[in-house]
Amino acid sequence: MADPALPLEAALRRAIAEAFPEAAAADPVVRPSSDPRFGDYQANGAMALGKRLDRPPREVAQALAARFDAAAAGVEPPEVAGPGFLNLRLTPAWLSDRLDELAADPRLGITTVERPERVVVDYSAPNVAKEMHVGHLRSTIIGDALVRILSYQGHAVVRQNHVGDWGTPFGMLIEHLLDLGEEEAADELSVGDLTGFYQEARKKFDADAGFAARARQRVVLLQAGDAETLRLWHLLVDESKRYFNLVYRRLGVLLTDDDLAGESFYNDRLGPTCQELEELGIAVPSEGALCVFPPGFPGRDGGPMPLMVRKSDGGFGYDATDLAAVRYRTRDLGATLLVYVVGAPQAQHLALVFAGAVLAGWLGGVTGRRVVHVAFGSVLGPDGKMLKTRTGDSAKLIDLLDEAVERAAAIVAERSELSPEEQAAVAEAVGIGGVKYADLSNDRTRDYTFDYDRMLATDGNTGAYLQYAVARCRSILRKGEASGGAPGGVVVVEPAERALALALLRLDAAVRGAAEDFAPHKLSGHLFDLAQTFTSFYDACPVLKAPDEATSASRLTLCRLTADALALGLSLLGIDAPDRM
Ligand code: ARG
Repeated sequence: MADPALPLEAALRRAIAEAFPEAAAADPVVRPSSDPRFGDYQANGAMALGKRLDRPPREVAQALAARFDAAAAGVEPPEVAGPGFLNLRLTPAWLSDRLDELAADPRLGITTVERPERVVVDYSAPNVAKEMHVGHLRSTIIGDALVRILSYQGHAVVRQNHVGDWGTPFGMLIEHLLDLGEEEAADELSVGDLTGFYQEARKKFDADAGFAARARQRVVLLQAGDAETLRLWHLLVDESKRYFNLVYRRLGVLLTDDDLAGESFYNDRLGPTCQELEELGIAVPSEGALCVFPPGFPGRDGGPMPLMVRKSDGGFGYDATDLAAVRYRTRDLGATLLVYVVGAPQAQHLALVFAGAVLAGWLGGVTGRRVVHVAFGSVLGPDGKMLKTRTGDSAKLIDLLDEAVERAAAIVAERSELSPEEQAAVAEAVGIGGVKYADLSNDRTRDYTFDYDRMLATDGNTGAYLQYAVARCRSILRKGEASGGAPGGVVVVEPAERALALALLRLDAAVRGAAEDFAPHKLSGHLFDLAQTFTSFYDACPVLKAPDEATSASRLTLCRLTADALALGLSLLGIDAPDRM
């Protein structure tokens, strides 16, 4: 238990239960204090408690202070301040014990969850034969970070890449492939010239009635399982997969082909899903189609909005596939938590699907199974409009990443004494890490501007700033070792040491906060705080030239812990931190 707030909270809860049994479950409201003069933590629960018990909050706070077992919580006897705050200051002995524990713990105090769940994370999900756009980039980056964080906490995480690889567009795509010739088409797709491919097919479909008729016929053949049509479809899928994998490897995300469960995967499951919904009496005929009308979703005409389970032509669409996916994920994969990392514009579609799944008894209610839409905003270009990967036609996501790495290389070269090969590896980490960090450090629900200069800056809340902080700590450690020093037991004396110690002890809380809200920026924000706190510490407290050997050893441990905490935190975000830069 590294997080200092935890024992404080427990001891305060006991004090509340003893002093005010009538309000035994009240929250002590323990928060890091914003100003070290008011202690390391504050408990603000006396205010609400006073109101509830109709007693002056100061009196309540005093009663709590009297009952509070300060020694058990590792703090000095608390002080009552202002209208009824309890100021809590950790004792140096408690702090140094915890830091010694931290130094011996490869997880740096990050706890595992008491009740691990089976969590399905639906993310990335680009569409076959269509360019991956920055929305897919966001989903991939955010999803990857959440997968890493939840897995590290001990959950059994199942990655699901719900690629768009089925449905009516494949008629025109296959016909276009035949027009182009298989080889030519494969070349275009595998290098990521997907926009061109899709748009040309679309153009022909709209302009050429003969082509459109062939395309429609092709969809029928595809759905009927015609062998030659399936072979051509596979070609499209395989070449696109090659491109997606290129992007995934470049980004360093965990997704592999094993995680693919695209729309086509649910093809055989659509019928049974439909049947089950009909048997349950949830799906009803409506204008020739089969629909579910979840309550609470008024449509434009005032009537309820439909989930289209089966279309009037007997075909299935996006709604049906997503219903089948919820059913499969809960029933076959045994998930108790479903996480959808999908852009905000799909909020209503997903809400309808989830409501339908609740009606069907797959989610919610007595099942106890939960679902979250981890929504995110758009990426904007410098003009404040939705980012297009470069103006012009055949834009490629991979170009965006290449450019980030290229620009990073110039920055790295300026400050680095490493060999050209080592510099190339560092540039890759800084470029890709910069793109990912820029995304993950923003509240995901907001839009953000894609700006290379800002993303790659070595100052401010950026990937490069944190990566340089790790490298700096490691370099101090190497220098320390070279001059015969070694990290040793931690003693907390100076205010800057105390601040750094506290920041190190809060890593677990930051990870838990990020996991609870599916909000990677809560972790990145903490890492930025930690790096800044380290900078202040390093300015105030000489490490290699410390007044004595014990102090130097203690400070070396603080450096080591900072490097490890930053590197571990970054790794949970999917970002590399080179040892030397
Ligand atoms: N392929 C979809 C798109 O590009 C995203 C799929 C999201 N996941 C899902 N289960 N609907 O918009």
